[in-house]
Amino acid sequence: MHLNIKQADIKQEIEELAKELNYHCYRYYILDAPVISDEEYDRLYLHLRRLEERYGFVLPDSPTQRVGAPPLEKFEKIRHKEPMLSLDNAFSHAELIKFDARVKRFIKSEGDIEYTVEPKYDGLAIEIIYREGYLYKACTRGDGYEGEDITRNVKAIKSVPLKIEGTVVPKEIDIRGEVYMDIAEFERLNKERGQKGEPAFANPRNAAAGSVRQLDSSITASRRLHLACYGIGAVQGMEFESQWGLINWLKAARFPVPAVVRHVKAINDALEVIKEIEGKRDSLPFEIDGAVIKVNALYLQRLLGVKTREPRWAIAYKFPVNQGTTKIIKIIPSVGRTGVITPVALLEPVRISGVTVSRSTLHNWDEIKRKDIMVGDFVTIERAGEVIPHVVKVIKERRRGGEEPALLPKECPVCGSKAVKERGEVAVRCIGLDCPAQVRERIRHFASKGAMDIEGLGDKNVELLHSEGLINHFGDIYSLKKGDILRLPRFKEKSAQNLIDAIQKSKDTTLARFLYALGIPHVGEYAAKLFARNFERLEDMYNINPERIMEMRQIGEKISNSAAEFFNAPNNLETLSSMKASGLKITNPEYEGKKKERQPFDGLAFVITGRLPVPRKDIENSIENLGGHASSSVSKNTDYLIAGESPGSKLQKAESIGVKIISYEDLLKMMASLNPLILSLI
Ligand code: IVH
Repeated sequence: MHLNIKQADIKQEIEELAKELNYHCYRYYILDAPVISDEEYDRLYLHLRRLEERYGFVLPDSPTQRVGAPPLEKFEKIRHKEPMLSLDNAFSHAELIKFDARVKRFIKSEGDIEYTVEPKYDGLAIEIIYREGYLYKACTRGDGYEGEDITRNVKAIKSVPLKIEGTVVPKEIDIRGEVYMDIAEFERLNKERGQKGEPAFANPRNAAAGSVRQLDSSITASRRLHLACYGIGAVQGMEFESQWGLINWLKAARFPVPAVVRHVKAINDALEVIKEIEGKRDSLPFEIDGAVIKVNALYLQRLLGVKTREPRWAIAYKFPVNQGTTKIIKIIPSVGRTGVITPVALLEPVRISGVTVSRSTLHNWDEIKRKDIMVGDFVTIERAGEVIPHVVKVIKERRRGGEEPALLPKECPVCGSKAVKERGEVAVRCIGLDCPAQVRERIRHFASKGAMDIEGLGDKNVELLHSEGLINHFGDIYSLKKGDILRLPRFKEKSAQNLIDAIQKSKDTTLARFLYALGIPHVGEYAAKLFARNFERLEDMYNINPERIMEMRQIGEKISNSAAEFFNAPNNLETLSSMKASGLKITNPEYEGKKKERQPFDGLAFVITGRLPVPRKDIENSIENLGGHASSSVSKNTDYLIAGESPGSKLQKAESIGVKIISYEDLLKMMASLNPLILSLI
């Protein structure tokens, strides 16, 4: 019947229908206040789909575009324009007060700091890129730098806007938030899985993550997922001044935002909001595991910056977590790859939030003493998220007198070398350089998945190859011969060849993986990536001094010293050279990726003169972090002179050659307008 209506009318009808349906979606999924019945919605939806099919005109934000794409073969990768960070944790109000003090100290201010407080959703972080107002791509957080393209699945989440509504629409914006599943939906899904003989999800978070990482988006669509948006990455064509302003814009643009967001004037008010959120915890239809406190002003966020992988301007307060009670059967010492001997409690197995716990780290013997833990004690065990279970406290009332103290080991349980506890240190270390436990742990770490990823070099084979004298150091892996392996009891032609192939394959690696594999104390996966972003080649780190590393502002003293110590030891450099000679091919995509990121102060040269409220080094670091250059003397290449109190002769020189002179406040404003959320645009 529509065939005789003019094309323009059809187009208009399609547009109006899509708009109306999107509005009802928003009322239903975000405001939780529908104004039409489900039947009425379905009728309109069907009508729209028929028109689209018949006239071949489909809008990019049509609700029909949420479903129906064929399954993917695999997920493509997407690089985040701005890294997706994680959060530092606090477990008490006292730690939050300390956080506030740290913030004040860092920005040299004694005045109250304004914060926002939001619930911490226990789900999966994602990023959604909008171009010219339309949903363009969506990806998972991944390793913080690169995630997986899950665009189709995110489109299938009904509360995700396909188009940004409102008058102020940025040219491009990366919206960040948490995908989560309500407890009721989680239970429904597990019941359904049980009926189909499929394994149950352990918790709503795993269910949400599993649902969003589906190659077939119709599976995602069949599960009721939600989104809470709490931040942004890069943005182009718009500026925000505060977290609170951002949240309000998100709300107006019809994005789902956290169930509670409060803007407070000082840390004490933030503590009150935390209590409020904690009080609501059990009545919320979804799981939250804490609250997130963020410095409200974005220019202060910029100034505070990032340390390793966590911003200095935010912290997560974690609610007390799942606990259980059980008995310590034995305390055994366990030797790690750096020689540190850790006491581990063997427990009578106990189920805590769905997981059986039978071991718990006791960290060190000082901790055992502090908590007065004895073998045979009943203890409260806590399991928080992915963290290894730990002992919270001893239940002293249940002591019967047969408990025994946990003795400090005098020698290494594996190699028998002396175990020493340095004065002022808590760790007990095995001093045996060739301690098999350490050697094996280092080799195992080198070959592990996140490191060189050598399949077949797990615990058992490492132990065998090491005890047979074939590898005494991870450097020996690359000189292993098939003939040598074949002589070992467990290997046959095929398995020996497989191992050789896996070793060969691992030679093609990245600098970040390789640095992590080396097992340098304190250099974890993330720090290794930061190194790789800043140093092009492995050799660039040889004989480096710690100050040079500290120039990367995100790396603190501990990591810098440890890495410098490693790269200054002649025997380490020898091992590295011989490994490279065996055909290692190290590429560095992290460095390449960083080079491509445009920085707001790119190409700008700054000089500082006079007294400023913040240490000069900090200001220089901030400038360099934004891609600028801080130099000590004024020349015609200088773009800005930052003049503080009682400026020196640099001021006259700058005036005479026409260099722009700005105050410290002007610099802060420049940084604020380049707030952390709009880095990529200038
Ligand atoms: S802000 C740098 N706000 O917690 C800021 N994160 O432990 C990072 N999360 O990866 C994120 N609720 O997946 C922020 N209201 C909230 C959050 C939140 C949950 C998650 C997020 C992040 C993780 C960090």
